[in-house]
Amino acid sequence: MKKKDIHQIVRVNHAGELGAKWIYQGQLDWIKDAQAKEIIRHMYEQELDHLKYFEKVMQVRQVRPTILMPFWKWVGKTAGAFSAALGSDAAMACTEAVEDVIDEHYASQIRHLEKERPDEIELINTLKTFRADECNHRDIAATYDQSPSPLKRTLKKAVKIGVKLAISVSKRI
Ligand SMILES: [Fe+2]
Ligand SMILES: [Fe+2]
Repeated sequence: MKKKDIHQIVRVNHAGELGAKWIYQGQLDWIKDAQAKEIIRHMYEQELDHLKYFEKVMQVRQVRPTILMPFWKWVGKTAGAFSAALGSDAAMACTEAVEDVIDEHYASQIRHLEKERPDEIELINTLKTFRADECNHRDIAATYDQSPSPLKRTLKKAVKIGVKLAISVSKRI
């Protein structure tokens, strides 16, 4: 595994954590339900910690950020605001879908690093911690999914496609 691959991992994770921050920020601006808002604020604060870590790693390893940052900011904030404007159910459905993709994303990076770069122990352990946080976000969000609706199903599908697309693009540019 080359240095370039580690750079890709750092770049896409930085973009992802930044995207997460903006999604939750968009939700916090629009959510009305006080209880859901409290939960989202807690998730948001964890995303800020994740982001801080990748900002630091980017500096140390001299990784350039994705050039799509302004675009992802707009997409993230819009998705967050839109889902929260529909209600706490939709906001949580959005979170459930995002974190479901991120769970698999981190899991595959961890598998890859453990095989190819077992010396990157600090990075691997951090990814494991972050992955546990993201799974926790997904599981909390899933408790809101008591009444499935076609709208929520469509929203989840669209969000998953969007996140997967964002991941594959942000690795490269
Ligand atoms: Fe995160
Ligand atoms: Fe998260």
